[in-house]
Amino acid sequence: MSLSDRILKMAGLGPSPSPSGPARARVLAVAAQKGGVGKTTTAVNLAVALARFQNLRTLLIDLDGQGHVATSLAAVFQDGTGPSLSDILLGHGRDLTEIVHPTRIENLYLTPSDKGLAAAEGILSGRIGKEFLLRGTLKQARAGFDVIVLDCPPNLGNLTLNALAASDSCLVPCDMSALSLAGVIDLLAVVETIRDRLGHDLGVLGILPTRIDRRNSRVTRHVMDELAALYGPMLMDTRIPVNSALARAQMAGVPVFDLDASGTGANAYRDLADEVAFRMGLAATR
Ligand SMILES: Nc1ncnc2c1ncn2[C@@H]1O[C@H](COP(=O)(O)OP(=O)(O)OP(=O)(O)O)[C@@H](O)[C@H]1O
Ligand SMILES: [Mg+2]
Repeated sequence: MSLSDRILKMAGLGPSPSPSGPARARVLAVAAQKGGVGKTTTAVNLAVALARFQNLRTLLIDLDGQGHVATSLAAVFQDGTGPSLSDILLGHGRDLTEIVHPTRIENLYLTPSDKGLAAAEGILSGRIGKEFLLRGTLKQARAGFDVIVLDCPPNLGNLTLNALAASDSCLVPCDMSALSLAGVIDLLAVVETIRDRLGHDLGVLGILPTRIDRRNSRVTRHVMDELAALYGPMLMDTRIPVNSALARAQMAGVPVFDLDASGTGANAYRDLADEVAFRMGLAATR
């Protein structure tokens, strides 16, 4: 199969039929190999927008030991007691619903990460079926939510592999740099490996251009041209601009919609939720 055929097959564009039975939630991994491209900003504001503007019951899970999701939503979320995400991942037969916490945002629930995740990453590598441990813990959560969004760490290690193996599709943020572009190529190679070797029908919901700065137009145009040439139909229509309100909101622990509701960042993430819901088959129109 040619590269472009494989890319089109991976893209799986357009609304897909609803899964039947209890596994109703669509699971979406926000993943990129490069650090700082906007994974957490995207996972957080997308999850909030899906819950608030699309009325979808949404669970946001942080798979990065840095704990940036809980920091980004500190004003609307208080960590509960009980086991940690690493306890659940490493425990036999435990279910992630034990650590699903409500937030002050209607329809939005959160599973925070913990410092033990970095160590868990190493322990996982010795386990049989190590790529499917997260998937095994999500069975009940899938029945109780419409969407599950996973924020991944900035590498292609075991936690990212677990996220991809537990997901129906992935969203790949790419900022306007050559390194980020190279990271997209590496991540899509992993997606193919997961499809071929693990037999898991993982889709690519889209590649999301982030941190677009009009002042840097030559580099931006170059990266955008490369993305369009390589991945055409996989490129999301939504573009995320550089917008200081996104960084300020993260520092204040609120979604961007609560800090600068009509700014360019908030508008972009609202548009992204429309596009994601449509591409996932959860909204009939955009
Ligand atoms: N579009 C944007 N405009 C301005 N600042 C942004 C934008 N997106 C992200 N940032 C800021 O850039 C920094 C990195 O963003 P973020 O934490 O979302 O990236 P990440 O890919 O999750 O990083 P890591 O790889 O460390 O997990 C944060 O301070 C964030 O507030
Ligand atoms: Mg992050």
